[in-house]
Amino acid sequence: MKWCLLSLSALLSPAVSAAQVEVLHWWTSGGEARAVEVLKSQWVAQGNQWSDFAVQGGGGKSAMTVLKSRALAANPPEAANLKGYELKEWAGLGFLRDLTPMAEQLGWYDQLPPMIRESLSQQGALMAVPTGIHRVNWLWLNRKVFEQQQLTPPGDWAQFVTIAEQLKREGITPLAIGNEPWQLAVLFEVVALGEGGKAFYRKAFLDQESATLTGPDMVRVLTRFQQLRSYVPQKYAGMKWHQATNLLESGGAAMQLMGDWVKGELSAGHYRPGEDIICLPSPGSQGLFSYNLDSIALFKQRDPAQNHAQNQLVNLLMTPTFQQQFNQAKGSIPALIKLDMKGFDRCAIRSHQDFLLAEQQDSLLPSMAEGMAVPTNMRQAIMDVLSSFFNDPSADPQQTALHLERAMRSTR
Ligand code: GAL
Repeated sequence: MKWCLLSLSALLSPAVSAAQVEVLHWWTSGGEARAVEVLKSQWVAQGNQWSDFAVQGGGGKSAMTVLKSRALAANPPEAANLKGYELKEWAGLGFLRDLTPMAEQLGWYDQLPPMIRESLSQQGALMAVPTGIHRVNWLWLNRKVFEQQQLTPPGDWAQFVTIAEQLKREGITPLAIGNEPWQLAVLFEVVALGEGGKAFYRKAFLDQESATLTGPDMVRVLTRFQQLRSYVPQKYAGMKWHQATNLLESGGAAMQLMGDWVKGELSAGHYRPGEDIICLPSPGSQGLFSYNLDSIALFKQRDPAQNHAQNQLVNLLMTPTFQQQFNQAKGSIPALIKLDMKGFDRCAIRSHQDFLLAEQQDSLLPSMAEGMAVPTNMRQAIMDVLSSFFNDPSADPQQTALHLERAMRSTR
């Protein structure tokens, strides 16, 4: 009935051309695609047209490459999933629309945590709208495997290694992960948080202090990181993050350390997050919240109709209904942080509580692995060093710390 009313009202309303937008994103796994479907269906329900510009590749590296070629050809999409330093860099080049007037007119700032306004602003101008807040420092574990092996979830990295050794002896893969550099960067990040702590993390990646990057704490973090190499799956080479999640679901592996887009994947597979698969802060990072803020930016367009369509899109993204339904599918929590969390699973409710607590305790940390903490080229340099280190059993942690510091300094 609702649809009929809608089409009748659309017929009766003044003839307005349907808004058409093309949106670039890389949300193509099961859970991600379900989240995109929420956006697309709500957009189309408004009588608009959606053009999906999906570029496969978890983490978005391929999507950013395609976006560059489109923008350089003066043919950018109306909108794109741009976040963190990628967003600031695109904004700095003058490609993106300034959304400050809309934010002020529609009162967005009051509904968002200060961290979000800061993350999405370039010289005080709002350059994107947030779709949701992902937490990176999560440990996901297969409850059945842990119960069968009579294991207690690891609270720190020494316990993680003890459990991993027992699982290995039982012929069970301890850690579900693929060899993509961004996946390894997430693993390194949660080790750095758990073994080094928030002060170390900030000095290493936000201040990029040479003494910290080459000091004993970094050597300890790298040594622990290297140790985890012996716990990866046989088919580790080429395994995508969502395939690692599928391995976890099936019990082919016991644990995964990854952001909560994993939860979107689990829900898509009808796994009950917090029941079949348990969510816990990654070892040693209790109280810390490493955030990955997804956001949509608007590319400047000449045609006023395109600007109108863009305005309608960001308006939709900032509605409570979209924020609730999209984030329930995506595995993140709403950027409209004051929204009621009813209808969310227990892991999302835990994430929301931990976010608010971390905000109060100055324990919100921008994810280095997810491009929130350092410039894009520095992040790539870090991932290159970490990837070759993790895959070379003879590599020396001390030498690698020096190499990491030099690589980061060279991209400044
Ligand atoms: C991140 C993105 C998340 C998630 C993940 C896996 O970069 O911010 O939304 O999709 O990649 O593709």
